[in-house]
Amino acid sequence: MVSRVIPVENFDLVIFGGTGDLARRKILPGLFRRYRSGQMPAEARIVGAARSALDHDAFRQMVAEAVAEFGGPEKDDAECLKAFLAQIHYVAVDAKGEGGWQALSGLMREGVVRAFYFSVAPSLFGDLAERLHRFNIATPDCRIVVEKPFGHDLATARALNATLATHFKETQIYRIDHYLGKETVQNLMAVRFGNILFEPLWNNHYVDHIQVTVAETVGVDGRGGYYDQSGAMRDMVQNHLMQLLCLIAMEPPSRFDADAVRDEKLKVIRALDPVAADEIVRGQYGSGGKAYRDDAENPASTTECFVAIKAHISNWRWAGVPFYLRTGKKMRARSSEIAVVFKDLGHSIFEGDTARHRNILAIRLQPNEGMDLQVTIKEPGPGGMRLVDVPLDMTFAEALGPDAGEVHDAYERLIMDVIRGNQTLFMRGDEVEAAWAWTDPIISGWDARGDRPRPYEAGSAGPEEAMMLMHRDGRRWREIKG
Ligand code: BG6
Repeated sequence: MVSRVIPVENFDLVIFGGTGDLARRKILPGLFRRYRSGQMPAEARIVGAARSALDHDAFRQMVAEAVAEFGGPEKDDAECLKAFLAQIHYVAVDAKGEGGWQALSGLMREGVVRAFYFSVAPSLFGDLAERLHRFNIATPDCRIVVEKPFGHDLATARALNATLATHFKETQIYRIDHYLGKETVQNLMAVRFGNILFEPLWNNHYVDHIQVTVAETVGVDGRGGYYDQSGAMRDMVQNHLMQLLCLIAMEPPSRFDADAVRDEKLKVIRALDPVAADEIVRGQYGSGGKAYRDDAENPASTTECFVAIKAHISNWRWAGVPFYLRTGKKMRARSSEIAVVFKDLGHSIFEGDTARHRNILAIRLQPNEGMDLQVTIKEPGPGGMRLVDVPLDMTFAEALGPDAGEVHDAYERLIMDVIRGNQTLFMRGDEVEAAWAWTDPIISGWDARGDRPRPYEAGSAGPEEAMMLMHRDGRRWREIKG
Protein backbone atom coordinates (compact mmCIF):
# COMPACT_ATOMS: atom_id res chain seq x y z
CA MET A 1 0.00 0.00 0.00
CA VAL A 2 1.43 3.40 -0.92
CA SER A 3 0.90 5.97 1.81
CA ARG A 4 -0.51 9.25 0.61
CA VAL A 5 1.11 12.30 2.13
CA ILE A 6 -0.80 15.55 1.83
CA PRO A 7 1.53 18.46 2.62
CA VAL A 8 0.34 21.02 5.14
CA GLU A 9 0.60 24.79 4.74
CA ASN A 10 3.79 26.62 5.56
CA PHE A 11 4.09 27.40 9.29
CA ASP A 12 6.10 28.82 12.18
CA LEU A 13 5.90 26.55 15.23
CA VAL A 14 7.27 27.77 18.55
CA ILE A 15 7.85 25.08 21.17
CA PHE A 16 7.93 26.57 24.66
CA GLY A 17 9.76 24.00 26.76
CA GLY A 18 11.74 23.16 23.62
CA THR A 19 14.59 21.60 25.60
CA GLY A 20 12.25 19.48 27.76
CA ASP A 21 11.60 15.78 27.80
CA LEU A 22 8.46 15.75 25.66
CA ALA A 23 10.08 17.92 22.99
CA ARG A 24 13.12 15.66 22.83
CA ARG A 25 11.29 12.33 22.93
CA LYS A 26 8.23 13.04 20.83
CA ILE A 27 7.76 16.47 19.30
CA LEU A 28 11.11 17.03 17.57
CA PRO A 29 11.72 13.46 16.29
CA GLY A 30 8.09 13.40 15.12
CA LEU A 31 8.51 16.66 13.22
CA PHE A 32 11.62 15.29 11.55
CA ARG A 33 9.66 12.25 10.37
CA ARG A 34 6.99 14.50 8.89
CA TYR A 35 9.65 16.68 7.28
CA ARG A 36 11.27 13.67 5.68
CA SER A 37 7.95 12.29 4.45
CA GLY A 38 7.35 15.58 2.63
CA GLN A 39 4.30 16.49 4.70
CA MET A 40 6.01 19.37 6.45
CA PRO A 41 6.92 22.06 3.94
CA ALA A 42 10.67 22.56 3.43
CA GLU A 43 10.36 26.24 4.47
CA ALA A 44 8.45 25.57 7.71
CA ARG A 45 10.22 27.05 10.71
CA ILE A 46 10.52 25.49 14.15
CA VAL A 47 11.60 27.66 17.04
CA GLY A 48 12.66 26.16 20.35
CA ALA A 49 12.04 28.50 23.27
CA ALA A 50 13.15 27.80 26.81
CA ARG A 51 15.02 29.32 29.73
CA SER A 52 18.51 27.99 28.91
CA ALA A 53 20.89 30.39 27.22
CA LEU A 54 21.61 28.39 24.07
CA ASP A 55 22.38 29.65 20.59
CA HIS A 56 20.78 28.30 17.40
CA ASP A 57 23.59 25.83 16.81
CA ALA A 58 23.59 24.41 20.31
CA PHE A 59 19.84 23.83 20.04
CA ARG A 60 20.24 22.22 16.60
CA GLN A 61 22.81 19.90 18.13
CA MET A 62 20.32 18.99 20.84
CA VAL A 63 17.67 18.29 18.19
CA ALA A 64 20.10 16.08 16.25
CA GLU A 65 20.82 14.13 19.42
CA ALA A 66 17.10 13.77 20.18
CA VAL A 67 16.48 12.43 16.67
CA ALA A 68 19.40 10.00 17.05
CA GLU A 69 18.10 8.77 20.38
CA PHE A 70 14.35 8.71 19.83
CA GLY A 71 13.89 8.68 16.06
CA GLY A 72 12.99 5.65 13.96
CA PRO A 73 14.87 4.24 10.97
CA GLU A 74 14.71 7.64 9.21
CA LYS A 75 17.24 9.06 11.69
CA ASP A 76 20.07 7.77 9.52
CA ASP A 77 19.18 10.06 6.62
CA ALA A 78 21.97 12.55 7.34
CA GLU A 79 21.30 14.80 4.35
CA CYS A 80 17.65 15.23 5.20
CA LEU A 81 18.49 15.83 8.86
CA LYS A 82 20.88 18.60 7.83
CA ALA A 83 18.16 20.31 5.81
CA PHE A 84 15.69 19.90 8.69
CA LEU A 85 18.13 21.41 11.19
CA ALA A 86 18.55 24.45 8.95
CA GLN A 87 14.84 25.20 9.61
CA ILE A 88 15.35 25.18 13.37
CA HIS A 89 15.95 28.21 15.55
CA TYR A 90 16.23 28.94 19.23
CA VAL A 91 15.34 31.82 21.51
CA ALA A 92 15.98 31.98 25.25
CA VAL A 93 12.81 33.46 26.74
CA ASP A 94 11.87 34.38 30.23
CA ALA A 95 8.25 33.25 30.68
CA LYS A 96 7.78 35.55 33.67
CA GLY A 97 9.95 38.43 32.52
CA GLU A 98 10.70 40.46 29.42
CA GLY A 99 13.80 38.66 28.13
CA GLY A 100 13.76 37.15 24.66
CA TRP A 101 10.28 38.21 23.57
CA GLN A 102 11.43 40.85 21.09
CA ALA A 103 13.81 38.33 19.54
CA LEU A 104 11.01 35.79 19.26
CA SER A 105 8.77 38.37 17.64
CA GLY A 106 11.53 39.04 15.10
CA LEU A 107 11.57 35.40 14.04
CA MET A 108 7.88 35.25 13.18
CA ARG A 109 6.91 35.58 9.52
CA GLU A 110 3.80 37.10 7.99
CA GLY A 111 1.43 34.99 5.92
CA VAL A 112 2.17 31.59 7.44
CA VAL A 113 0.30 29.59 10.09
CA ARG A 114 1.52 30.42 13.61
CA ALA A 115 1.38 27.79 16.32
CA PHE A 116 2.67 27.83 19.89
CA TYR A 117 3.20 24.57 21.76
CA PHE A 118 3.01 25.11 25.53
CA SER A 119 5.12 22.14 26.67
CA VAL A 120 5.58 23.74 30.09
CA ALA A 121 3.96 23.66 33.53
CA PRO A 122 0.33 24.87 33.40
CA SER A 123 1.21 27.57 35.94
CA LEU A 124 3.05 29.34 33.09
CA PHE A 125 0.19 29.25 30.55
CA GLY A 126 -1.15 32.63 31.60
CA ASP A 127 2.27 34.30 31.51
CA LEU A 128 3.06 32.94 28.06
CA ALA A 129 -0.35 33.88 26.67
CA GLU A 130 -0.13 37.42 28.03
CA ARG A 131 3.33 38.00 26.56
CA LEU A 132 2.43 36.53 23.19
CA HIS A 133 -0.17 39.29 22.95
CA ARG A 134 1.83 42.09 24.49
CA PHE A 135 4.70 41.53 22.10
CA ASN A 136 2.31 41.23 19.15
CA ILE A 137 3.37 37.67 18.45
CA ALA A 138 -0.11 36.18 18.73
CA THR A 139 -2.36 36.72 15.70
CA PRO A 140 -6.17 36.37 15.61
CA ASP A 141 -5.91 32.92 14.06
CA CYS A 142 -2.73 31.59 15.67
CA ARG A 143 -3.04 28.30 17.53
CA ILE A 144 -1.85 27.17 20.92
CA VAL A 145 -1.29 23.58 21.95
CA VAL A 146 -1.56 22.57 25.59
CA GLU A 147 -0.64 19.29 27.22
CA LYS A 148 -2.22 17.17 29.87
CA PRO A 149 -2.57 17.24 32.80
CA PHE A 150 -5.17 19.89 32.07
CA GLY A 151 -5.83 20.87 35.68
CA HIS A 152 -5.73 18.78 38.81
CA ASP A 153 -9.48 18.79 39.39
CA LEU A 154 -12.57 20.61 38.16
CA ALA A 155 -11.74 23.89 39.89
CA THR A 156 -8.20 24.11 38.50
CA ALA A 157 -9.32 23.03 35.01
CA ARG A 158 -11.96 25.78 35.06
CA ALA A 159 -9.36 28.30 36.14
CA LEU A 160 -7.02 27.21 33.32
CA ASN A 161 -9.82 27.39 30.77
CA ALA A 162 -10.67 30.86 32.02
CA THR A 163 -7.03 31.99 31.77
CA LEU A 164 -6.70 30.71 28.21
CA ALA A 165 -10.07 32.17 27.25
CA THR A 166 -8.89 35.66 28.27
CA HIS A 167 -6.33 35.51 25.49
CA PHE A 168 -7.58 33.02 22.90
CA LYS A 169 -10.82 31.85 21.29
CA GLU A 170 -11.77 28.19 21.81
CA THR A 171 -11.10 27.57 18.11
CA GLN A 172 -7.46 28.52 18.74
CA ILE A 173 -6.92 26.14 21.69
CA TYR A 174 -5.72 22.59 21.01
CA ARG A 175 -5.81 20.43 24.17
CA ILE A 176 -3.83 17.31 23.43
CA ASP A 177 -4.78 13.84 24.56
CA HIS A 178 -2.30 11.74 22.64
CA TYR A 179 -4.59 8.68 22.77
CA LEU A 180 -6.81 10.44 20.22
CA GLY A 181 -3.85 10.52 17.84
CA LYS A 182 -3.33 6.76 17.95
CA GLU A 183 -4.04 4.99 14.71
CA THR A 184 -6.41 2.39 16.13
CA VAL A 185 -8.33 4.90 18.17
CA GLN A 186 -9.25 6.67 14.96
CA ASN A 187 -9.95 3.30 13.44
CA LEU A 188 -12.56 2.77 16.11
CA MET A 189 -14.55 5.57 14.49
CA ALA A 190 -13.90 4.20 11.01
CA VAL A 191 -15.12 0.76 12.09
CA ARG A 192 -18.21 2.08 13.82
CA PHE A 193 -19.28 4.62 11.24
CA GLY A 194 -17.80 3.27 8.02
CA ASN A 195 -19.48 -0.15 8.17
CA ILE A 196 -23.10 -1.17 8.21
CA LEU A 197 -22.34 -4.39 10.10
CA PHE A 198 -21.72 -3.08 13.58
CA GLU A 199 -23.89 -0.03 14.16
CA PRO A 200 -27.24 -1.92 14.32
CA LEU A 201 -25.79 -4.15 17.05
CA TRP A 202 -24.05 -1.36 18.96
CA ASN A 203 -26.56 -1.02 21.82
CA ASN A 204 -28.04 -2.68 24.88
CA HIS A 205 -30.15 -5.11 22.84
CA TYR A 206 -27.05 -6.92 21.60
CA VAL A 207 -24.08 -5.88 23.72
CA ASP A 208 -23.58 -7.66 27.06
CA HIS A 209 -20.72 -5.48 28.26
CA ILE A 210 -17.63 -3.60 27.13
CA GLN A 211 -14.09 -3.90 28.47
CA VAL A 212 -11.38 -1.33 28.05
CA THR A 213 -7.88 -2.29 29.18
CA VAL A 214 -4.80 -0.08 29.07
CA ALA A 215 -2.05 -2.16 30.66
CA GLU A 216 1.54 -0.94 30.84
CA THR A 217 4.69 -2.75 31.88
CA VAL A 218 6.51 0.46 32.83
CA GLY A 219 6.42 1.74 36.38
CA VAL A 220 6.61 5.39 37.30
CA ASP A 221 10.38 5.38 36.92
CA GLY A 222 11.74 8.86 37.45
CA ARG A 223 8.29 10.49 37.54
CA GLY A 224 7.52 9.73 41.16
CA GLY A 225 7.11 13.40 42.09
CA TYR A 226 4.45 14.04 39.45
CA TYR A 227 2.81 10.67 39.77
CA ASP A 228 2.35 10.83 43.52
CA GLN A 229 0.23 13.94 43.06
CA SER A 230 -1.66 12.43 40.20
CA GLY A 231 -2.19 8.67 40.42
CA ALA A 232 -3.74 6.54 37.71
CA MET A 233 -7.12 8.21 38.11
CA ARG A 234 -5.83 11.63 37.08
CA ASP A 235 -3.00 10.42 34.85
CA MET A 236 -4.90 7.88 32.75
CA VAL A 237 -8.61 7.57 33.55
CA GLN A 238 -9.72 11.22 33.49
CA ASN A 239 -8.29 11.63 30.00
CA HIS A 240 -7.16 8.59 27.99
CA LEU A 241 -9.70 6.03 29.21
CA MET A 242 -12.58 8.48 29.20
CA GLN A 243 -11.75 9.50 25.64
CA LEU A 244 -11.82 5.85 24.58
CA LEU A 245 -15.11 5.36 26.40
CA CYS A 246 -16.58 8.36 24.60
CA LEU A 247 -15.60 7.11 21.16
CA ILE A 248 -17.10 3.69 21.84
CA ALA A 249 -20.31 4.97 23.36
CA MET A 250 -21.12 8.19 21.49
CA GLU A 251 -24.04 8.56 19.09
CA PRO A 252 -23.06 8.87 15.43
CA PRO A 253 -22.15 12.51 14.79
CA SER A 254 -23.80 13.92 11.69
CA ARG A 255 -20.41 14.81 10.20
CA PHE A 256 -16.80 14.04 11.05
CA ASP A 257 -16.05 17.55 12.19
CA ALA A 258 -14.68 18.97 15.37
CA ASP A 259 -17.82 20.25 17.02
CA ALA A 260 -20.12 17.47 15.82
CA VAL A 261 -17.78 14.81 17.26
CA ARG A 262 -17.04 16.69 20.47
CA ASP A 263 -20.72 17.45 21.11
CA GLU A 264 -21.44 13.70 21.04
CA LYS A 265 -18.50 12.86 23.30
CA LEU A 266 -19.62 15.46 25.81
CA LYS A 267 -23.10 13.90 25.98
CA VAL A 268 -21.54 10.55 26.91
CA ILE A 269 -19.51 12.05 29.76
CA ARG A 270 -22.56 13.86 31.06
CA ALA A 271 -24.59 10.64 30.96
CA LEU A 272 -22.11 8.73 33.14
CA ASP A 273 -23.54 7.75 36.53
CA PRO A 274 -21.58 8.55 39.67
CA VAL A 275 -19.40 5.56 40.58
CA ALA A 276 -20.41 3.60 43.69
CA ALA A 277 -17.61 2.84 46.18
CA ASP A 278 -17.90 -0.90 45.54
CA GLU A 279 -17.67 -0.50 41.77
CA ILE A 280 -14.14 0.82 41.73
CA VAL A 281 -10.87 -0.78 42.78
CA ARG A 282 -7.56 0.99 43.12
CA GLY A 283 -4.29 -0.81 43.36
CA GLN A 284 -0.60 -0.25 43.96
CA TYR A 285 2.12 -2.67 42.93
CA GLY A 286 4.09 -3.77 45.92
CA SER A 287 3.30 -7.25 47.09
CA GLY A 288 6.33 -9.33 46.21
CA GLY A 289 9.16 -7.93 44.09
CA LYS A 290 9.41 -4.28 43.13
CA ALA A 291 7.17 -1.84 44.97
CA TYR A 292 5.62 1.42 43.77
CA ARG A 293 6.83 2.99 46.99
CA ASP A 294 10.42 2.41 45.87
CA ASP A 295 9.72 4.56 42.81
CA ALA A 296 7.55 7.17 44.50
CA GLU A 297 8.94 10.20 46.28
CA ASN A 298 6.89 9.50 49.36
CA PRO A 299 7.76 6.05 50.74
CA ALA A 300 4.38 5.87 52.49
CA SER A 301 2.46 6.92 49.38
CA THR A 302 -1.13 5.77 49.03
CA THR A 303 -1.33 6.86 45.39
CA GLU A 304 -2.90 4.32 43.04
CA CYS A 305 -1.12 3.05 39.95
CA PHE A 306 -3.97 0.74 38.99
CA VAL A 307 -7.70 1.45 38.67
CA ALA A 308 -10.59 -0.79 37.65
CA ILE A 309 -14.08 0.68 37.32
CA LYS A 310 -17.51 -0.58 36.45
CA ALA A 311 -19.10 2.41 34.77
CA HIS A 312 -22.69 2.94 33.69
CA ILE A 313 -24.01 5.26 31.03
CA SER A 314 -27.60 6.32 31.62
CA ASN A 315 -29.09 6.73 28.17
CA TRP A 316 -31.32 4.71 25.84
CA ARG A 317 -28.48 3.08 23.97
CA TRP A 318 -26.47 1.85 26.95
CA ALA A 319 -28.80 1.47 29.94
CA GLY A 320 -27.92 -1.84 31.63
CA VAL A 321 -24.62 -2.37 29.77
CA PRO A 322 -21.62 -2.13 32.10
CA PHE A 323 -18.38 -0.61 30.86
CA TYR A 324 -15.47 -2.18 32.70
CA LEU A 325 -12.36 0.00 32.51
CA ARG A 326 -8.94 -0.83 33.88
CA THR A 327 -5.47 0.58 33.63
CA GLY A 328 -2.29 -0.10 35.51
CA LYS A 329 1.46 0.17 35.60
CA LYS A 330 3.83 -2.80 35.98
CA MET A 331 1.28 -5.18 34.58
CA ARG A 332 1.91 -8.56 32.96
CA ALA A 333 2.26 -7.14 29.44
CA ARG A 334 1.93 -3.91 27.49
CA SER A 335 -1.46 -4.40 26.01
CA SER A 336 -4.32 -2.03 25.32
CA GLU A 337 -7.57 -3.08 23.82
CA ILE A 338 -11.27 -2.42 23.67
CA ALA A 339 -13.50 -5.49 23.65
CA VAL A 340 -17.18 -5.33 22.78
CA VAL A 341 -18.69 -8.54 24.17
CA PHE A 342 -22.01 -9.38 22.56
CA LYS A 343 -24.87 -11.21 24.29
CA ASP A 344 -25.45 -14.96 24.28
CA LEU A 345 -27.70 -16.39 21.61
CA GLY A 346 -30.44 -17.26 24.07
CA HIS A 347 -31.27 -20.57 22.38
CA SER A 348 -29.04 -23.12 20.69
CA ILE A 349 -30.43 -25.42 18.00
CA PHE A 350 -27.39 -27.69 18.26
CA GLU A 351 -28.08 -30.63 20.51
CA GLY A 352 -25.50 -31.22 23.20
CA ASP A 353 -23.88 -27.82 22.71
CA THR A 354 -23.95 -26.34 26.15
CA ALA A 355 -20.97 -24.01 25.78
CA ARG A 356 -21.52 -20.28 25.95
CA HIS A 357 -20.62 -18.92 22.53
CA ARG A 358 -20.16 -15.23 22.24
CA ASN A 359 -19.19 -12.88 19.51
CA ILE A 360 -16.50 -10.50 20.68
CA LEU A 361 -15.12 -7.60 18.70
CA ALA A 362 -11.64 -6.79 20.05
CA ILE A 363 -9.90 -3.65 18.89
CA ARG A 364 -6.18 -3.76 19.72
CA LEU A 365 -4.65 -0.35 20.32
CA GLN A 366 -1.13 -1.53 21.00
CA PRO A 367 0.94 -3.43 20.33
CA ASN A 368 0.10 -5.28 17.13
CA GLU A 369 -2.60 -2.81 16.04
CA GLY A 370 -5.63 -4.51 14.59
CA MET A 371 -8.99 -6.06 15.31
CA ASP A 372 -10.37 -9.48 15.73
CA LEU A 373 -13.92 -10.69 15.70
CA GLN A 374 -14.64 -13.89 17.56
CA VAL A 375 -17.20 -16.00 15.70
CA THR A 376 -18.59 -19.46 16.27
CA ILE A 377 -18.13 -22.13 13.60
CA LYS A 378 -18.32 -25.88 13.25
CA GLU A 379 -15.25 -27.68 14.40
CA PRO A 380 -13.83 -29.27 11.25
CA GLY A 381 -14.02 -33.03 10.80
CA PRO A 382 -16.50 -35.78 11.55
CA GLY A 383 -18.36 -36.28 14.79
CA GLY A 384 -21.46 -34.14 14.40
CA MET A 385 -22.05 -30.47 15.00
CA ARG A 386 -19.45 -29.48 17.52
CA LEU A 387 -19.05 -25.76 17.73
CA VAL A 388 -15.86 -23.84 18.30
CA ASP A 389 -15.05 -20.13 18.69
CA VAL A 390 -12.38 -18.74 16.39
CA PRO A 391 -11.04 -15.24 15.84
CA LEU A 392 -11.34 -13.58 12.44
CA ASP A 393 -8.06 -11.76 12.83
CA MET A 394 -7.20 -8.56 11.03
CA THR A 395 -3.79 -7.26 11.91
CA PHE A 396 -3.52 -3.98 10.02
CA ALA A 397 0.13 -4.42 9.12
CA GLU A 398 -0.65 -7.80 7.52
CA ALA A 399 -3.85 -6.74 5.82
CA LEU A 400 -2.61 -3.45 4.39
CA GLY A 401 1.04 -4.14 3.68
CA PRO A 402 4.31 -2.95 5.16
CA ASP A 403 3.60 0.78 4.84
CA ALA A 404 0.62 0.43 7.11
CA GLY A 405 2.87 -1.30 9.64
CA GLU A 406 4.68 1.98 10.13
CA VAL A 407 2.38 3.34 12.76
CA HIS A 408 3.02 7.04 13.09
CA ASP A 409 3.42 8.43 16.52
CA ALA A 410 0.30 10.08 17.87
CA TYR A 411 2.10 13.37 18.52
CA GLU A 412 3.27 13.98 15.00
CA ARG A 413 -0.18 13.32 13.60
CA LEU A 414 -1.75 15.70 16.10
CA ILE A 415 0.77 18.47 15.41
CA MET A 416 -0.05 18.26 11.71
CA ASP A 417 -3.74 18.59 12.64
CA VAL A 418 -2.90 21.77 14.54
CA ILE A 419 -1.31 23.23 11.41
CA ARG A 420 -4.30 22.17 9.33
CA GLY A 421 -6.61 23.79 11.87
CA ASN A 422 -8.50 20.57 12.54
CA GLN A 423 -9.65 20.28 16.17
CA THR A 424 -11.57 16.99 15.85
CA LEU A 425 -8.96 14.98 17.77
CA PHE A 426 -8.46 17.56 20.52
CA MET A 427 -10.44 17.99 23.71
CA ARG A 428 -12.75 20.96 24.02
CA GLY A 429 -12.80 22.93 27.28
CA ASP A 430 -16.27 21.74 28.28
CA GLU A 431 -15.31 18.09 27.72
CA VAL A 432 -12.32 18.36 30.03
CA GLU A 433 -14.43 20.01 32.71
CA ALA A 434 -17.16 17.35 32.41
CA ALA A 435 -14.53 14.61 32.75
CA TRP A 436 -13.24 16.21 35.96
CA ALA A 437 -16.80 16.58 37.24
CA TRP A 438 -17.10 12.78 36.99
CA THR A 439 -13.70 11.90 38.47
CA ASP A 440 -13.56 14.50 41.28
CA PRO A 441 -16.17 12.80 43.53
CA ILE A 442 -14.41 9.46 43.10
CA ILE A 443 -11.14 10.93 44.32
CA SER A 444 -12.70 12.95 47.12
CA GLY A 445 -14.63 9.82 48.18
CA TRP A 446 -11.33 7.96 48.58
CA ASP A 447 -9.88 10.84 50.56
CA ALA A 448 -12.92 11.07 52.81
CA ARG A 449 -12.90 7.32 53.52
CA GLY A 450 -9.12 7.15 53.94
CA ASP A 451 -9.18 4.50 51.22
CA ARG A 452 -5.93 2.63 50.64
CA PRO A 453 -5.02 0.97 47.35
CA ARG A 454 -5.03 -2.84 47.21
CA PRO A 455 -1.57 -4.34 46.70
CA TYR A 456 -0.77 -6.30 43.56
CA GLU A 457 2.30 -8.02 42.33
CA ALA A 458 4.41 -6.34 39.68
CA GLY A 459 4.00 -8.35 36.48
CA SER A 460 0.47 -9.52 37.34
CA ALA A 461 -3.00 -8.57 36.08
CA GLY A 462 -3.75 -6.31 39.05
CA PRO A 463 -5.30 -6.84 42.48
CA GLU A 464 -7.62 -9.73 43.22
CA GLU A 465 -10.45 -7.30 43.97
CA ALA A 466 -10.39 -6.13 40.35
CA MET A 467 -11.05 -9.71 39.24
CA MET A 468 -13.95 -9.86 41.69
CA LEU A 469 -15.47 -6.74 40.15
CA MET A 470 -16.30 -8.91 37.15
CA HIS A 471 -16.58 -12.34 38.74
CA ARG A 472 -19.44 -11.28 40.93
CA ASP A 473 -21.32 -10.31 37.75
CA GLY A 474 -20.57 -13.72 36.22
CA ARG A 475 -18.05 -12.18 33.79
CA ARG A 476 -14.29 -12.22 33.46
CA TRP A 477 -11.60 -9.90 32.22
CA ARG A 478 -9.88 -10.83 29.01
CA GLU A 479 -6.36 -12.05 29.37
CA ILE A 480 -3.62 -9.43 29.24
CA LYS A 481 -1.30 -10.62 26.48
CA GLY A 482 1.48 -8.69 24.82
C1 BG6 B 1 0.78 9.41 29.53
C2 BG6 B 1 0.85 9.12 31.00
O1 BG6 B 1 -0.21 10.37 29.26
O2 BG6 B 1 0.47 8.21 28.82
C3 BG6 B 1 1.86 8.03 31.29
O3 BG6 B 1 1.21 10.31 31.70
C4 BG6 B 1 1.58 6.80 30.45
O4 BG6 B 1 1.86 7.69 32.66
C5 BG6 B 1 1.42 7.18 28.98
O5 BG6 B 1 2.65 5.89 30.62
C6 BG6 B 1 0.96 5.99 28.16
O6 BG6 B 1 1.01 6.32 26.80
P1 BG6 B 1 1.26 5.21 25.69
O7 BG6 B 1 1.13 5.95 24.40
O8 BG6 B 1 2.61 4.61 25.93
O9 BG6 B 1 0.17 4.19 25.88
